[in-house]
Amino acid sequence: MDRIRIVGGNPLNGTIPISGAKNAALPLMIAGLLTDEKLVLENVPRLADVALLQRILGNHGIDITVNGKRRGDDAYAGQTMEIDARVIVDTTAPYDLVSKMRASFWVIGPLLARMGQAKVSLPGGCAIGTRPVDFHLDALRALGAEIEIDAGYVLARAPKGLKGARIDFPKVSVGATHTAIMAASLADGETIIENAAREPEVVDVADCINAMGGRIEGQGSSTIRIIGVPRLRGARHCVLPDRIETGTYAMAVAMTGGDVLLAGARADLLESALDTLRQAGAEVTVSNEGLRVTRNGAGISPVEVSTAPYPGFPTDLQAQLMALTTRARGTSKITETIFENRFMHVQELARLGARIQLDGETATIEGVEKLTGAPVMATDLRASVSLVIGALAAEGESMIHRVYHLDRGFERLEEKLSACGAQIERLAG
Ligand code: EPZ
Repeated sequence: MDRIRIVGGNPLNGTIPISGAKNAALPLMIAGLLTDEKLVLENVPRLADVALLQRILGNHGIDITVNGKRRGDDAYAGQTMEIDARVIVDTTAPYDLVSKMRASFWVIGPLLARMGQAKVSLPGGCAIGTRPVDFHLDALRALGAEIEIDAGYVLARAPKGLKGARIDFPKVSVGATHTAIMAASLADGETIIENAAREPEVVDVADCINAMGGRIEGQGSSTIRIIGVPRLRGARHCVLPDRIETGTYAMAVAMTGGDVLLAGARADLLESALDTLRQAGAEVTVSNEGLRVTRNGAGISPVEVSTAPYPGFPTDLQAQLMALTTRARGTSKITETIFENRFMHVQELARLGARIQLDGETATIEGVEKLTGAPVMATDLRASVSLVIGALAAEGESMIHRVYHLDRGFERLEEKLSACGAQIERLAG
């Protein structure tokens, strides 16, 4: 298993290109199941999760081709992916694949809407909490599906097709909003989704479905209206930049000090996180090329933050912010309201010398003068990258084990950081 070795203490200076958003690319690939024509996605990031979803879609009989680089593309140019779901040979998503990546459960919406049936394994437990799928199933039931759970599988049937309905989610869910939008796009009649997720990735998927001939309005607000169409066609769509990757590198610069251009980043996708970074003492400026983050001289100020659905502070940046506050001049408080168990990084950050106390869903972080390098263990994607941020500012050497978690969501992280002066390298095996 690969490890990452970091010797901390260097400021970051230079340019980091921001890749396409993982959490948009995955549902966009799944939306390819909605049509028998080709869906072409541009700016798809090169990530382990994307490769795994390619395999999962391949299992349904979908042809996926990925184009290599073109002359003039830079080293980090995203991939262009052609998804051809003309023939769906199998409407079953088996346990051994779904259990590896939760988002693959989302194939249930388009499979059911297009094929009238789907058999999809329940995703099972997950490192950041229980993460049930009841909202997905309630939405599909509202659209007229018959749902049965048998031997760990969800069997969904709609032999006469789905029918538009009113869906009112009890709590904001990104995935259940994707499921409802995809299924309703091919249903008969009008669907209104209340308390829909407003995340930019939901907007990106809805925009892509509209380019395929869908009729979705209100994406980006809490109420989404969909008029179902009998069929969707092929389209070409460019994946939006990754706001979580952007926020992660912005926090890394705020942690180490320095001056970095996050090329291709869009500030409007992460206003709340940028406000927090400014409170913590970083300077963030927006330019045509992206976002510039600097911190020179001044120390890190403590912050108080609660995670919330978009446009609030994202849970996917909670661990990274915690790493940053470990070196603040004072006490910070971070409350996690989305997932009940997303604090695995606390014990590992403590190994670097952080002082963090957990009380239910709130962490109190007492800033320390210095962190010290240590061997640490990656536990989930965002927790792992918080350890990278900690290690970049720690004195001496840190070794991060189980870096496959990082590869799920960060494209060539060690190359992007070392190009900006970090002492970071991947050790194979
Ligand atoms: C998406 O997960 C993201 N994944 C997550 O990113 C992200 O943390 C999360 O949204 C919240 O922003 C992808 O986009 C691939 P939810 P999702 O449904 O859709 C509860 C990362 O690191 N809930 O919005 O699975 C759930 O338990 C990942 O990139 C139910 O109770 O999250 C949670 O408390 C991790 N029943 C809350 O809703 C349901 O049926 C929000 O979860 C569904 C969700």
